[in-house]
Amino acid sequence: MDLGIAGRTALVCGASKGLGYGCALALVREGVNVLIVARGQEALDSAAAQLRTAATGGATVRALATDITTEAGRAQVFALQRDFDIVVTNAGGPPPGDFRDWDREAWIKAVDANMLTPIELIKATVDGMAQRGFGRIVNITSSSVKSPIDILGLSNGARSGLTGFVAGVARSSIAAKGVTINNLLPGKFDTDRLGGTISAAAKKSGKSVDEVRRVQQAQIPAGRYGTAEEFGAICAFLCSVQAGYLTGQNILPDGGAYPGTY
Ligand SMILES: NC(=O)c1ccc[n+]([C@@H]2O[C@H](COP(=O)([O-])OP(=O)(O)OC[C@H]3O[C@@H](n4cnc5c(N)ncnc54)[C@H](OP(=O)(O)O)[C@@H]3O)[C@@H](O)[C@H]2O)c1
Repeated sequence: MDLGIAGRTALVCGASKGLGYGCALALVREGVNVLIVARGQEALDSAAAQLRTAATGGATVRALATDITTEAGRAQVFALQRDFDIVVTNAGGPPPGDFRDWDREAWIKAVDANMLTPIELIKATVDGMAQRGFGRIVNITSSSVKSPIDILGLSNGARSGLTGFVAGVARSSIAAKGVTINNLLPGKFDTDRLGGTISAAAKKSGKSVDEVRRVQQAQIPAGRYGTAEEFGAICAFLCSVQAGYLTGQNILPDGGAYPGTY
């Protein structure tokens, strides 16, 4: 299916690896020009090179090494370009822990990265999209928004704040001007981040990494982790012309792990 977005330009944050990279890959395959952002230069350069190989229709790939959760980082992005047609917001998730140990600073950091950064990115781009009559914003959040994980309280809290904000703004006057905003809530996807949490779980339980992976995957109805490529394909569809009537939604790719009807 032609998604109708060839020639559009996307900002994809947290895109040197994992789910953000998956989104950038799916977009360049559709002929979308991308600006990818991550902090580490080396991984970013290698991601950009791979994306250039995968790009179709003359799509261009630019890469900027910066911290998107800082005002200075976002200013660097917007100095390059502001009139993006597509914005994928993403950054690392907050660390796990016990809420009794989290002070104000820990909360501010989580809220900054996982709530205020996407809001700032939306604020900077959405009115231009509305004026031009087309825009797609996809926020990478987490299945923990629907199905909270106790040790991920910083993520549950900060991302729920973003979810509430998006529910309102997606239904504001921009909705009639061709702009959609949706959240993508990953369940368990096989990325570096998941690898880190599996290693920690293995260490804590005394089990091997393979055993932890086997047990976790058996608990997912699909019987496996998701891939960044699958995640990216859903993101690209949310950015498509065909998805123009889909806004303010929380899409949960998790292999059926969420046990509820709604
Ligand atoms: N994978 C899963 O199963 C899963 C499940 C639920 C939620 N999530 C959430 O989905 C998001 C992406 O996860 P992932 O698994 O793709 O992680 P990942 O494999 O660790 O990749 C994260 C990407 O974001 C970049 N990044 C991190 N912090 C950044 C910052 N401050 N500014 C710019 N770029 C930044 C990283 O590069 P640098 O470190 O070089 O900046 C990297 O490119 C995270 O918020 C995670 O909590 C993931």
